[in-house]
Amino acid sequence: MPVFRADLIHTPTRGRIARMQDALIRVDADGTITSVASFDATETPDVVDLRGQGVLIPGLVDLHIHAPQFPQLGTALDVPLEDWLQRYTFPLEARYADLAFATRVYDALVRRLLANGTTTAVYFATIHGPASLRLAEICVVQGQRALVGRVAMDDPHGCPDYYRDADAATAIRDTASFVEAVRAIPGNALVEPVITPRFIPACSDEALHGLGQLARDTRAAVQTHCSESDWEHGHVLDRCGMSDAHALDKFGLLTRRTVLAHAGFIDADDMDLIRARGAGVAHCPLSNTYFANAVFPLRRALEKSVRVGLGTDISGGPSAFLLDNARAAVAGSRMLESGVDPATPAGNRGVGDSRVDFRDAFWLATTGGADVLDLPVGLFEVGRQFDAVLVDLPDVDLVEQSADDLLQGIVMRATPGDLRATWVAGRLVSGAV
Ligand code: GUN
Ligand code: FE
Repeated sequence: MPVFRADLIHTPTRGRIARMQDALIRVDADGTITSVASFDATETPDVVDLRGQGVLIPGLVDLHIHAPQFPQLGTALDVPLEDWLQRYTFPLEARYADLAFATRVYDALVRRLLANGTTTAVYFATIHGPASLRLAEICVVQGQRALVGRVAMDDPHGCPDYYRDADAATAIRDTASFVEAVRAIPGNALVEPVITPRFIPACSDEALHGLGQLARDTRAAVQTHCSESDWEHGHVLDRCGMSDAHALDKFGLLTRRTVLAHAGFIDADDMDLIRARGAGVAHCPLSNTYFANAVFPLRRALEKSVRVGLGTDISGGPSAFLLDNARAAVAGSRMLESGVDPATPAGNRGVGDSRVDFRDAFWLATTGGADVLDLPVGLFEVGRQFDAVLVDLPDVDLVEQSADDLLQGIVMRATPGDLRATWVAGRLVSGAV
């Protein structure tokens, strides 16, 4: 099995950088790291020597991607969320009834994300079982670690007739079949199903309740959108008389295995509940710029020990590169702290103590995301899977740089073109060395 000789950098705990120059990493047949040590001249000659080609970082964990929205990446961001869904997104997603179209898009998307260093991806697909299963199969074939969800959406008030589940029973039954089908993919050690009610405004109470029951019965992961925008947050308050987090909990959908996308409007009480249940948040700062109407209080959530990672929210966010969201998380937190309206006096312009830095952002993109999913990735540590990316920043002598400068440079200015290769479970899945 592979033995890698490389310079590596990672964040074992939030805020702390660890760097090893000339490390030797042993990986077993399952992709598990069995040792990380300083190179020793007596070691086996059979190594993949990556020195001089860049620095190894843990693979990126993207907690929130709408796979079918890839064709509209970077477009259609000129209207609010509720109009965007009806005008652009539901018509696009309806096209995935066509399995050939779905195969083309999903194949290209997974290839793009692996090239962009995303080794673990959490996907919303569409309501179509066959196309959603095809996405899971493509992840297995291309070697991307993933959670894949067939979207449930049955409420005629929130969803158009041409794109919704016929009724609650259909939403629940088709989700259950999908969970079984993904678990039955032959030779699959990388991909698991995730129960995916789109968001409360698109689902009936009956469907939400049934999907909560299914989560209990199957112990599958859950994902949905939570308190995303003024409109969405207000809609749930009106309909349910409580916030998204509390309503999801009532339906049995707030579990240790739940990923809540956005969560921009969660208050201290919601944070306490989310933490108590052990659910996690997919923070999607670029998407929030267009749809949220506010900045997610990231630092408050972290200080309350809410588990948080990052998401691109393709295509609510216009980038398929998770590090664009890492730098947006830093920028957004600083704007929340300073405030944004120069006409307001500095003293009451912003929300104090809100900033996070590049160390936090890198941790969110790797270790934090792994923690949200309880997956053994995100660090170079014995017992974790070897999911890694080789980064080579141009015009920089990586050996000479301090650990701080090296990591800050990666978070703030690396581009997809600077990523030379990507491995998942010890297997080279993109690029070349
Ligand atoms: N809320 C419900 N559906 C969606 C979606 O596709 N994207 C985003 N950003 N929010 C949603
Ligand atoms: Fe989303």
